[in-house]
Amino acid sequence: MADRLKDKVVLVTGAARNLGAVFARKIAGEGAHVFLADILADQLEQTTADVAARYGKASAIPLDVTQEDSWIAAMRTVEDKAGRLDVLVNNAGLFASARIQDQPLDEWERCFAVNARGTFLGCKHAHPLLKKSGGGAIVNISSSWGLTGRANFGAYSAAKAAVRMLTKSAAADFAEDRIRVNSIHPGVHETDLSRDFLADPQQREFLLGKVPLDRAGDPEELANAVIFFASDETPYMTGAELAVDGGYTAI
Ligand SMILES: NC(=O)c1ccc[n+]([C@@H]2O[C@H](COP(=O)([O-])OP(=O)(O)OC[C@H]3O[C@@H](n4cnc5c(N)ncnc54)[C@H](O)[C@@H]3O)[C@@H](O)[C@H]2O)c1
Repeated sequence: MADRLKDKVVLVTGAARNLGAVFARKIAGEGAHVFLADILADQLEQTTADVAARYGKASAIPLDVTQEDSWIAAMRTVEDKAGRLDVLVNNAGLFASARIQDQPLDEWERCFAVNARGTFLGCKHAHPLLKKSGGGAIVNISSSWGLTGRANFGAYSAAKAAVRMLTKSAAADFAEDRIRVNSIHPGVHETDLSRDFLADPQQREFLLGKVPLDRAGDPEELANAVIFFASDETPYMTGAELAVDGGYTAI
């Protein structure tokens, strides 16, 4: 255990499973009190209990990132329990896979609701408590596909591109309150969900065929990037974007 986030209070959305759960564990391991937020109530309780058993300071918050009331309640809970907020990680996300000519409108709307609206509401409602706490950091999880277009993923790619620009605008809006806002753009990372896809040679070629490092990322590698922006090691970085994608967007 290290101390790169010692005594900080951090909220991670979409933390019940996969990448968000890894971020929460790693953040707790760096000395923070971590609030894990998600709509998956049972999995959230289980993951939070695991993190708490290992590191001590972890709390669960039921949160639907698409709902303003839900964010207001979540922020009240953080303030009541911890008295402050230093970092928000907007990780909750939703894939949507279809060609644009086949994309049902409600899927497009849902994809934007979770990825773009959810990130906007997170920035908006974390701002007062971050400001009251003397400043802090917001880390928005976008995607390498938010930096490039991608066949079959138009809605997802556009929603993650919205996260990228929202990040830069929030960085400008929040600078006077000493709140830094940066985005991370993961390439394909190996999680419970992607493992089955990656086991199929055709899917693997589709996902990793153009990745110079020729492998999927390890979620721990991504968590290192989250900690980089969340910690006090990057005080002069705001509005920046960091691709953690094996070189996918470099070529
Ligand atoms: N896994 C990858 O390879 C990869 C690559 C690029 C970007 N990303 C991004 O990383 C993030 C995490 O991805 P993951 O692979 O762990 O996906 P995942 O689907 O396993 O996890 C997303 C989490 O968000 C939660 N969530 C969904 N809608 C929500 C809502 N309305 N309110 C609260 N929580 C909600 C889900 O319950 C889930 O726990 C996402 O933003 C995703 O777009 C992942």
